[in-house]
Order: sequence, then C-alpha cells, then structure tokens
Amino acid sequence: MKTLLIVYHTGGVKTARMAEAVERGAKSEPGVRVVLKRCAQAGPADLLAADGLILGTPENFGYMSGMMKDFLERVFYACEGKVSGRPYALFVGAGQDGSGAVSSVERIVLGLRLNRVHAPVVAVKDLQESHLRQCEELGAAFAAGLALGVF
Ligand SMILES: Cc1cc2nc3c(=O)[nH]c(=O)nc-3n(C[C@H](O)[C@H](O)[C@H](O)COP(=O)(O)O)c2cc1C
Repeated sequence: MKTLLIVYHTGGVKTARMAEAVERGAKSEPGVRVVLKRCAQAGPADLLAADGLILGTPENFGYMSGMMKDFLERVFYACEGKVSGRPYALFVGAGQDGSGAVSSVERIVLGLRLNRVHAPVVAVKDLQESHLRQCEELGAAFAAGLALGVF
C-alpha cells in the first residue's frame, strides 16, 4: 500500500483546518495509507517512508513558516537523492498574499527533485468552505493518483 505524508504547521487554526480537509480527502481513497504530522513531529524517516508528500504552511513575513523551514532543513541532506521524482503538493494559509510561501517552498523542494503534481491551494483572508473543498479535492486527487500509480 502506498503512503501519503501530509506535513504542516499552524500558528493558529487556519492551516490546521486546511490540513484536516486534505487528510479527509486523501482518506476517501481506501488504497492509500495517510499520515498527518506537524512539522515539529516529522523528520527524514517519515519522508523516506512516504510515496508522496503534501506540505502545508502559513505565509509569515512573505515566506514559509519558520517551522516548515526547520522541517525542510532537517530532511534536506538526509533525503537528497533518495526521493527524486516523488510527487508533492502544497497548501498555504495566508492573510492577503501567499505567493512568498509558495515560491519559498517550491525553491527548496526543487532541490529535492520532488515532482509537483497539483497547483498550490492558497487560502487568503478568512477561511471559506470553498477553500476547504479545494483542500479535500487536493487530498483526494493526490491519493487517487498514488493508488492508481499515475505519479
Ligand atoms: C508573524 C506573522 C507574519 C505574517 N506574514 C504574512 C505575510 O507575509 N503575508 C500574508 O499574506 N499573511 C501573513 N500573515 C498572516 C497569516 O499568514 C495568516 O493569518 C494565516 O492564515 C495564519 O495561519 P494559521 O492560523 O494556520 O497560523 C502573517 C501572520 C503572522 C502571525
């Protein structure tokens, strides 16, 4: 069975609710094991064991959150060259922008040679039902792709 790892940070509630929606969507696909972890609890062994990765972060100061950067720093050299080509996607909780979080994550995962298989889901301003639906769809599509061997 394929494993999908969802790693996220939240300083409040928004990105956590998005993560739960991604997890809900992913779990609608029975053929995939879904692991949801906060950045602080996740490390290289989790990433090496995963067939796919979905990252979630708030945008803070025009960048990914410090905890997401810490996670990526801890896994980078341990996983470099060992996860090449594996699929990844990203969701961002932002106040009014989100593009800095997207570009900062994308620059780093490029170095891991992860393969972006879904457009980033960015929720700006107040969290809406439509954002949560997009997150569920992201999780479901990603898990289905893993289960079917599309990625
Ligand atoms: C220290 C700090 C810096 C922030 N910087 C940005 C920013 O640069 N751009 C933006 O769109 N929102 C920014 N925000 C707003 C957060 O991204 C937004 O409130 C987000 O939804 C928080 O998600 P969370 O509840 O999961 O922590 C910032 C918030 C904090 C606390």
